[in-house]
This record gives sequence, structure tokens and C-alpha cells, in this order.
Amino acid sequence: MKTTYYGQSTLMIETEGKKLLFDPFITPNPAAKDIDIHSLKPDDILVSHGHGDHVADLVAIQKSSGAKVICIAEIANWLGKQGIEAHGMNIGGGFNFEFGRVKMVNAVHSSTMPDGASGGNPAGFVLYSGGKKIYYAGDTALTYDMKLLADEDLDWAVLPIGDNYTMGIDDAIKSTDFFNCKNIIGVHYDTFPVIAIDKDEAVAKFIKAGINIKLLAIGEEIEL
Ligand code: NI
Ligand code: MN
Repeated sequence: MKTTYYGQSTLMIETEGKKLLFDPFITPNPAAKDIDIHSLKPDDILVSHGHGDHVADLVAIQKSSGAKVICIAEIANWLGKQGIEAHGMNIGGGFNFEFGRVKMVNAVHSSTMPDGASGGNPAGFVLYSGGKKIYYAGDTALTYDMKLLADEDLDWAVLPIGDNYTMGIDDAIKSTDFFNCKNIIGVHYDTFPVIAIDKDEAVAKFIKAGINIKLLAIGEEIEL
């Protein structure tokens, strides 16, 4: 399962012949200026919540790709008003798509669209596809709800680690015991001054805690 990082919380996961793009925020990110959003051509776009650093390129990429958007009902409604059909879900619900199953899970955060409309509740996703189980946490605090995933036998988790708006490194490390997975892709750091991290120190802390941590460069690919 090939995964490519595009900065902030933006990832493309390729599975079962489909390209799934998570939380597209590329054009406003100077560090991602070499990425041509219209060449990405996802089949599906998964959106965790409505903040600009997760939806900045959502409409543009959907329009150039025709991708199906998978998101919470309020964001689906917001997209519907712009003529974009989306698959609305809500926390605790799962659905079997062509590429596999997606379950929407709780995130502790907030969610307002860039125009001030309600984004409903913020969410994370568990993706069951290609024989793998991947937890995409979205923007979230450390929360006991993560313990509900402890028996899922997750292969990978994508976690925010930048602090200030989400978990920082110490809470992210603690969270891996809650959902019981030690293969982590860290996201949501270094894009803005308030979420800057010392990468070497972060990696050392994760390794000391027995965690396989990946902090990918923009454009870098790994196999999950
Ligand atoms: Ni956010
Ligand atoms: Mn964010």
C-alpha cells in the first residue's frame, strides 16, 4: 500500500487500485509549492474536519478529478451547496466502499469551514483496505476514546504531533498505548511557527518509547 506525504496532514494512500487523498492542504503551504494539485487525481478524498489547513484544496482537487468526497454529514452538506456530491457519514458509522471499509471515529478538536459554516464534529477514520488497518486520527487531543481501537490490531496510525492545536509529541506517544499500535506516521507539524518541532528530538523520543516513527519529507513515499 503506497503512501505519499504532501505536507501538514495531507497523505495519498493507494490501495485496491484506488487513490485516497486525506485532508488536502497543499497550495497554501510554501513547503509543498512543487506539488501540482491537478496531477494528483484521487478517486476519493477523505476529510477529517473543516479547518482550512485540511480543506484548502478540497474543492479545486475534487473539480479537477471528479473524486468522491467522504466526510461528516455537515461538510457533505456544505459541499452539496457548491454542487459537489459527497458521501456523508457520522461518528461511529462505517461504510463499505469499493476500496474497502471506512469507519468514522471521534476526534477531540473543533470544526468550522473556512467561510464560517459549521463543519459538524471533527473526526478521524479507520481504513480497512488491502489487508491493512490504518487509523488516520485527524486533528485531535489525546482522548480515552482511542482505547476503543485497542483490539483493532491496527497496522499503522497517522497522528498529529505538532502541539498547540493538537496532541504534541508526549501525548502522541501516550496515545499509541491507547490504540495499541507502534507504527506511526507523524503529521501536522512544522507548517506554521506555532507547530514547529525539533525533528531529531521528536524521533529520539518516539524511538525511546519503542515506536517505529516516520516523519516523511514532502513528496516522500513509503509502503505501509
Ligand atoms: Ni484543525
Ligand atoms: Mn489542523
